[in-house]
Amino acid sequence: MTKITAAITAVGKYLPDYVLSNAILESMVDTTDEWILTRTGIKERRILKGEGKGSSFMAIEAAKDLFAKSKVNPLEIDLVIVATATPDMQAASTAALTATEIGATNAFSFDLISACSSFLYGMSTAAKFIESGRYQKVLLIGSDKNSSMIDYTDRATCIIFGDGAGAVLFEPNKEGYGIQDEELKTDGIGREFLQVPAGGSILPPSLETVQNKKHFVFQDGKTVFKYAVSKMAEVSDIILERNHLDKDKINWLAAHQANKRIIDATASRIGLPVEKVMMNIEMYGNTTSATLPLLLVDYEKQLKKGDKIIFAAFGGGFSWGAIYLTWAYNS
Ligand code: UT7
Repeated sequence: MTKITAAITAVGKYLPDYVLSNAILESMVDTTDEWILTRTGIKERRILKGEGKGSSFMAIEAAKDLFAKSKVNPLEIDLVIVATATPDMQAASTAALTATEIGATNAFSFDLISACSSFLYGMSTAAKFIESGRYQKVLLIGSDKNSSMIDYTDRATCIIFGDGAGAVLFEPNKEGYGIQDEELKTDGIGREFLQVPAGGSILPPSLETVQNKKHFVFQDGKTVFKYAVSKMAEVSDIILERNHLDKDKINWLAAHQANKRIIDATASRIGLPVEKVMMNIEMYGNTTSATLPLLLVDYEKQLKKGDKIIFAAFGGGFSWGAIYLTWAYNS
């Protein structure tokens, strides 16, 4: 029997209209355009404005963009996974509302939450459903309204994060295109270095948690930076070696867009020239679960059937990993 692989067959995106530029941030906190650009590579990020709009709003729009481009019928979707670190609500899943609103009424759905690795883990999860042979169309959406958990008086974090969403469709492939290999990791040692301290079961919301700003992202940037560079390169190396790949055989690196310096360092550790490194951090900042699908949408026209792509991500938890995928279509 021919082996079924899970291939990406369509992509879509949504970015809010409001642009938060470095110049605007200069008027909000003690920072400069030059510092932000040289330390992170970010020029601007998008922010979702409007009451009552959460991550589902952007997830729905990204899925609609995918449907419009691919002509996929939502009724044929078997499963909707929303990868997010900022779900609409604590209990009701973001994916359930998203699936219903996009007309995927024959699908079941769930949220996948693992900080900046949510989408990468979602790719692995989606692939398992497809590879089982039971499911034909799995829609994976990465959507994060990071602005909902950012303190816009804290210059260490407010310059980094942005809002956005990206969607990809996985379908079975019998020619061998799609996900080839993965190396996924976690280490709970990382929890203290990157977290939103309150709002969960350890420290439920209270007047005190709000007054003490415990519902905002806290990050020990230097430590996270160090781990991110070494761990993303480590897992990418494992994938390269196991699949007999070298820098000449790889076409693209699609790395989580957290900091241009982290991406550059990871690429240089595996010997990839800049032309092979997907990059859009300058326009969107770190959109957490949306960085990888946004890269695919922005680079879709340059991707060719058979291109070998290494995905890599690192985030809170700590959680990280790399996935090797071959691209399945010419657009
Ligand atoms: O996506 C999830 C994973 N997250 C990441 O991968 C993020 C990893 N970390 C980073 O990207 C970087 O650590 C940051 C961009 C967060 C910070 O860059 P850094 O080069 O590590 O700066 P730093 O925190 O070591 O700060 C260096 C200096 C400090 O001043 P002193 O103590 O040297 O006088 C900071 O106070 O820069 C100062 N600083 C700023 N200055 C201007 C920190 N933030 C700013 C700012 N503008 N926005």
